[in-house]
Amino acid sequence: MPKKKKRKGSRSAVNAFDASQLGNWEQDVASLAGMLVHEVKNPLSTLNISSQLLLEELGDPESPRDHRTQRRLETMRSEIQRIEKIVSSFLQLTRPQQMQRDSVDASRLVEDVISRNREAIELEGVNVFFQPMDVPRVAGDASLLHQAVLNLILNGCSAMSEGGEIFLRVLESTYRGSSAVVIEVTDTGVGISEEAIPRIFRPYVSTTEGGTGLGLPTTLRIIRLHGGTILVESEPGQGSRFSIVLPAEGSTQ
Ligand SMILES: Nc1ncnc2c1ncn2[C@@H]1O[C@H](COP(=O)(O)OP(=O)(O)OP(=O)(O)O)[C@@H](O)[C@H]1O
Ligand SMILES: [Mg+2]
Repeated sequence: MPKKKKRKGSRSAVNAFDASQLGNWEQDVASLAGMLVHEVKNPLSTLNISSQLLLEELGDPESPRDHRTQRRLETMRSEIQRIEKIVSSFLQLTRPQQMQRDSVDASRLVEDVISRNREAIELEGVNVFFQPMDVPRVAGDASLLHQAVLNLILNGCSAMSEGGEIFLRVLESTYRGSSAVVIEVTDTGVGISEEAIPRIFRPYVSTTEGGTGLGLPTTLRIIRLHGGTILVESEPGQGSRFSIVLPAEGSTQ
């Protein structure tokens, strides 16, 4: 830039700016994206209901033309449902999370997750095993923790397309010198390569058909909100173990 000649005696105005005073635009983008997605949800659910009503009106198609219409409507409906799943998972990930702090018995929580989902899991050809244990309680939000454990179980099921086993275990442990409660979810599925492990916690990384790739980032977010972490061990071809580590209630973090 050409330098202007300074007139004698005139004071130059220096524009000083420290970028650290700017807000975090990434957060603004995340909240705008959250709003956008929220707005998209209503027209989507109208589309879903309308396609359902059209299918019902069509009834049992007789002519080849009606058969084609039925197939197209079904495709539209399943695609709409896929978008709805993507949209609600995205909302879940970006929404500022409010957390309850109840005193939670992790062993009871795991039992509850299993009893509510056993039928669906077994329909996938997966047997699920769990031995309840006496462990210290954790301070946390039971419904968020429920969701986290279920996400890991569902991932285990997806990793075993031919069926297999899921073993759940709850144990008392120490993590970085503090008392912790660990919830282990072990499967006998395809396993994960060493290079892929850090990637699977990133949004939209998925190898599962129909998966959004938001399950693990959401699960990690929930566990971090509780002051905990997730450990992964995996042997390709043999299976994987995901361990949720939560600080025991009253332990100093
Ligand atoms: N237990 C597991 N065994 C093998 N691979 C896994 C396991 N858990 C996660 N993965 C890998 O990590 C990817 C990301 O998992 P994540 O839960 O985030 O998404 P997803 O399961 O594909 O989709 P969604 O959870 O939205 O249905 C999976 O697609 C899979 O490739
Ligand atoms: Mg998943």
